[in-house]
Amino acid sequence: MKAIILSGGKGTRLRPLTYTGAKQLVPVANKPILWYGIESIVAAGITEIGIIISPETGGEVKAKTGDGSRFGANITYILQDKPLGLAHAVKVAQPFLGDSPFVMYLGDNLVESELDLFINKFKTKHLDALTLLCEVENPTAFGVAKVDNQGKVLQLIEKPKNPPSNLALVGVYLFSPTIHQAIANIKPSARRELEITDAIQYLIDVQKNVDSFRLQGWWLDTGKKDDLLAANQIILDSCLELTIEGEIDAPSKISGRVHIGAGTKIINSTIRGPVTIGDNCHIENCFIGPYSSIANETTLIDADVEHSVILQGAKVINIHQRIVDSLIGERAQLKPAPKRPKALRFMIGDDSQIELV
Ligand code: DAU
Repeated sequence: MKAIILSGGKGTRLRPLTYTGAKQLVPVANKPILWYGIESIVAAGITEIGIIISPETGGEVKAKTGDGSRFGANITYILQDKPLGLAHAVKVAQPFLGDSPFVMYLGDNLVESELDLFINKFKTKHLDALTLLCEVENPTAFGVAKVDNQGKVLQLIEKPKNPPSNLALVGVYLFSPTIHQAIANIKPSARRELEITDAIQYLIDVQKNVDSFRLQGWWLDTGKKDDLLAANQIILDSCLELTIEGEIDAPSKISGRVHIGAGTKIINSTIRGPVTIGDNCHIENCFIGPYSSIANETTLIDADVEHSVILQGAKVINIHQRIVDSLIGERAQLKPAPKRPKALRFMIGDDSQIELV
């Protein structure tokens, strides 16, 4: 079995981050979202992985992720010239896939791994397609499935105005090579994309074996600040172990599960886990509270941070109010103000939000 991960798309920024790069590379607990997908595929025993990339962000995805050796996998990059839909991405990947059955994983989805169970059902029932479903509150934002009592998929609709159920399609699918015939038989949708939901619907219509699997664990859509913070909290809760590689001076206090990366200096600070701090950071006179992820090369001096994500190269210096529920972008700087500021001076990127609470 092979796998493809879709990491192309429009390269639109992840709001509200002033971040024009690939949304699949946005870190959760200091690791790109895309890498969680690669790790869960490799954990299921699949090592031949094709990653779909776009001309805009493909270079960045390739440079960061490499040839797969760090994951014990063999990664082939497949360029999709235009984001013409998920089924179009499968079409572009057809030479890589050959006549192998495969996992299709959406690179911006973060799913608690159940790939083994999922693959077992696919193999034992000799399916042509297996979809992963999860109950959601806002089904209009997703592909939605109508299933019978046994979980057999009767109908799939992409982002319906009147959803037939609250069962959303999670971004992990299993296919036999018959999906290629189905894709050859569908037309672009109203949003001018070749939809994978239409290709699966085609399989249903020609009486192929399509089934579904109900996701038991969590699934996160990381498109918004609060989703990203929630994903960060879940990952820190479930995956973080105490690992100290950097230097901690005597007055500093570390408690709970904390990761401190190589080359990082912790000076006169309190770190209360779960917290992950990357490499080569400078943390001085700070309190870093639970559910914070601080990326590499970050400087925090005289600051108090909790339940927040701070991206690479950011600087937070001399801010006396506690920073909570915040997302601070790459290389962003929060600088000290005089005691009674007469004015506030900003340089704030597109889609940013400032709340003085
Ligand atoms: O997240 C689950 C949802 O993903 C499903 O419920 C929907 O049925 C499915 O269509 C998809 O909907 P989205 O609108 O969220 O898909 P998005 O355009 O965000 O693309 C998903 C991933 O695939 C993302 O990592 C970008 C990549 N992609 C997307 C397109 C359209 C490609 O690599 N190539 C493409 O042409």
